Amino acid sequence: MGNDIPNKSTNTVRHRATVTRRRREKLNGHKSGIVWFTGLSGSGKSTLAHAVEEKLHQLDYRTYVFDGDNVRNGLCGDLGFSQEDREENIRRIGEMVKLFIDAGVVALTAFISPFRSDRDKIRKQVAEGDFIEVYCECPLEICESRDVKGLYQRARKGEIRDFTGISSPYEEPESPELVLKTGEQSLEECVEEVISYLKPLLSR
Ligand code: ADX
Repeated sequence: MGNDIPNKSTNTVRHRATVTRRRREKLNGHKSGIVWFTGLSGSGKSTLAHAVEEKLHQLDYRTYVFDGDNVRNGLCGDLGFSQEDREENIRRIGEMVKLFIDAGVVALTAFISPFRSDRDKIRKQVAEGDFIEVYCECPLEICESRDVKGLYQRARKGEIRDFTGISSPYEEPESPELVLKTGEQSLEECVEEVISYLKPLLSR
């Protein structure tokens, strides 16, 4: 269940916690898991992740949202947007969210995560049912017309290189657990869909 980067931290010995994931889940009264939102910039991932978190929190779930723009200001501040750097970005986030599932938390992530192989690697590193991929399907034209951060306009002018959807690819998930038409459906409808999917899964 490891990842495939060379490990320079030799001669380390893993310590096993007596307080296990199962015990934490029992205390919390729900299962933990990763809710992985993926989609273009401006497709609504962060808005949705936070709205779903709000609802889950009101229902007494322990949650945490990881967001591209925030993580890239800290943990991944040394990374840019080349394919290699995005791969490393997603790998680090994968490691982080694995710790959160171990901690009994429902981790919600909002990263473009444009490469299928990067997302699938995380899926393979966790148990079946722990990785819930939610595709925020929104046509490029809509994301671009929203252009909340003004980045599409700058990318079109050539001021930003490797911009997803413009000069860098986005690979759609092949079999995500959920597909939300975030360009058409209202935020409330999308939240409802995610919550209805999660509730039975997290109460196992
Ligand atoms: S990812 O591709 O590595 O998953 P991530 O979600 O962390 O990307 O960060 C995406 C955010 O970074 C975008 O929402 C946008 O605000 C900003 N950004 C800056 N440059 C780029 C770029 N070249 N491509 C996409 N997003 C960019």
